[in-house]
Amino acid sequence: MKKILSLILINFLFAIIANAQFGRLSPADSLRRDSINRVTQNDHAQMLKQLNIQSVRTGADGNNPNAPNAANYDESKANPFPKLPDPLILKNGQRIMNAADWWNKRRPEIEEDFNKEIYGRLPKNIPGVKWELVKDTIEMDGTVQVHTRKLIGHVENRAYPSISVNIDLSLSTPTAATKPVPVVMELSFIFPPGFHFPTPARDSSKPEPLTWQQQSLAKGWGYAVLIPVSIQADNGAGLTQGIIGLTNKGQFRKPDDWGALRAWAWGASRAMDYFETDKTVDAKHIAIEGHSRYGKAALVTLAYDKRFAAGFISSSGEGGAKLHRRNAGEIVENLTGAGEYHWMAGNFIKYGGPLNWGDLPVDSHELIAMCAPRPVFISSGDKGDAWVDVKGMFMAAVAAGPVYKLLGKKDLGTNKFPAIENGLMEGEIAFRQHSGGHTPGPNWPSFLEFAARYFE
Ligand code: GCU
Repeated sequence: MKKILSLILINFLFAIIANAQFGRLSPADSLRRDSINRVTQNDHAQMLKQLNIQSVRTGADGNNPNAPNAANYDESKANPFPKLPDPLILKNGQRIMNAADWWNKRRPEIEEDFNKEIYGRLPKNIPGVKWELVKDTIEMDGTVQVHTRKLIGHVENRAYPSISVNIDLSLSTPTAATKPVPVVMELSFIFPPGFHFPTPARDSSKPEPLTWQQQSLAKGWGYAVLIPVSIQADNGAGLTQGIIGLTNKGQFRKPDDWGALRAWAWGASRAMDYFETDKTVDAKHIAIEGHSRYGKAALVTLAYDKRFAAGFISSSGEGGAKLHRRNAGEIVENLTGAGEYHWMAGNFIKYGGPLNWGDLPVDSHELIAMCAPRPVFISSGDKGDAWVDVKGMFMAAVAAGPVYKLLGKKDLGTNKFPAIENGLMEGEIAFRQHSGGHTPGPNWPSFLEFAARYFE
């Protein structure tokens, strides 16, 4: 009884906080939310049917430590499948000994497994994108004058005109630049008007901290912001719309069709196409950054599109850099449920029941290995960021090391988990946990310093 009362109280408090932050949902918005949920449930159910699955296991509960399915944070229980697939052993058992065999034999095997079982395949008929400049301004960002371009990428939709996709991108470069500049591109959330992340108390005698955009400008670089939900909605209801729905002509996905993470990464590649045509941009030095679900998408982008030169993968957790085989924080079953399955291929649902995590043909260390030899910075926060399983991301970064080494690069240099704020920054795989919460914020200076080794 006490437990129920305290749960009601907690929910009540959350409701008050949510209402204070976002305002109460209008009747129209709550109707819209209900209808998105209904369509999502239906899409999820039809995918289970295609897969011939009756039910899936429930995910971990990250909110209630007393729940029977409470998320595990006990390291002694975190590794039920300790043996990882070896990124340097071919399916036929042969060991890869040189770079050519990695590129020609093993990497294609790994990519095929990710395509089929985890993130899904890009369809063959994806139409082209035409970039339109919709606003062109010279403005100040802090103390730096920038040239800002708002662009819309119109996806050709003659084959199915009832779905249109317009990709939202903006690019700012310093006007003082005398040559093409590196650019850091963020896959960005859209926050409701007036929303601010809680900011820690600040010493008012010190100047305002620079935003990540201003920190990039301070290096002499530009920045870009891509809005993933302009490419593909962030829910299952949207799978028959957006770029996935357009290529499927409004029909349901097949089990190995792409999910939202690959669709967002596809959009990032189209932004790269644009950068390659823009004379103010040094397209050989584009970094991709994303946080949380967009940290997953940033890692998928870097893994699949070799034109991206570096990645800042922030708090990406399950479905990102965290090992699927880990029982810590969020687990596979959270991503196979109706709330998150749309990020992945339908086939991934099988690993939340009847199959298990140990049945996956590849794991996340091999997604990191697909980025090799390019520099990748894997990061998380501390307080309130346990859900992303920082240890599981570190273990994946360690296990990707042999591929970087085979390609003549440096790995993390250790398999000992480092202290908070103690970045492992020497190699092409870098790792850093900052002391703040679920945000990339405090790790920006470290990432930019890391990228500067390659960009300057
Ligand atoms: C949830 C989800 C995570 C995701 C996060 C986010 O916590 O479980 O997988 O990364 O949302 O994107 O904010």
